Amino acid sequence: MAHPVTPTTVTEETITELAAARWATAHDPRVAQLMSSLVRHLHAFARENHLTEAEWMAAIRWLTDTGQISDSKREEFILASDVLGLSMLVVQQNHRLAPEATPATVLGPFHIEGSPELGFGGDMSDGVPGTPLFVHGTVRALDGTPVPGAVLDVWQADAEGAYESQLPEVDEARLRAKYTTRADGTYCVRTIAPLGYAIPMDGPVGHLIAQTDISHFRPAHVHFLLNVPGYEPLITHLFREGAPYLDSDVVFGVKRELVVGFTERAPGPTPDGGQSDVAWVEAVYDFVLQPA
Ligand code: BEZ
Ligand code: FE
Repeated sequence: MAHPVTPTTVTEETITELAAARWATAHDPRVAQLMSSLVRHLHAFARENHLTEAEWMAAIRWLTDTGQISDSKREEFILASDVLGLSMLVVQQNHRLAPEATPATVLGPFHIEGSPELGFGGDMSDGVPGTPLFVHGTVRALDGTPVPGAVLDVWQADAEGAYESQLPEVDEARLRAKYTTRADGTYCVRTIAPLGYAIPMDGPVGHLIAQTDISHFRPAHVHFLLNVPGYEPLITHLFREGAPYLDSDVVFGVKRELVVGFTERAPGPTPDGGQSDVAWVEAVYDFVLQPA
């Protein structure tokens, strides 16, 4: 005859340890640690705030909406992580670089794989209107050695602050390219001067932000990703010195070391060895990579 099983009585006091212990049985020890810790922190949040059922249901609806608005072009969960400061925390604790190395910042939701490759000074704006901008300099190691053959994956918003995935009429990638450093480590990007822009405000993240005093703008910037063998991978931005919102970036991505002068230049010779008939803007920056 089978023995009757006495079920454990779950109480407000015992539920956390019961759930944490259950999740600690995950087969991968790291999953076990992360899941039981997550359970403890979620329960602590519910206790500390005496979360009501209506509030928890509203939170679940918000998560559902965040998932449902996301697709291959719209990454609402990345945006949520960014505005909560979580992306930047994860970046900081995983990229504790030497003070002289170029610091890392958030990836953001608009990077895509497979950007076209351009040569030194190749124009990634490809007809998108704006003031010509040349960003140029050297990629070097911490000890000053130039890094030849380093690929810089570059992307940015247009002069209106829009990425192509936000424009229904644009179905081709634009304002993005890959540049490779020359034998002496030099690179030259030709693009258009970026402006600051608002993060997408028409989804669940925007609806939450709209209930606060948070500024929903990012300062003018260009994104760079350098994944060079032998060096720490670097995801970063360069920000335009003096741009609005440098001290209130909605995703906490600004670092003093990444703010560079964008100098206005008269028509004339340009850093790619060419000539501009119109006024242009120059930003000079050396990326400094930390050996892996
Ligand atoms: C971006 O700069 O592309 C970006 C980063 C984080 C959130 C939204 C946009
Ligand atoms: Fe951006």
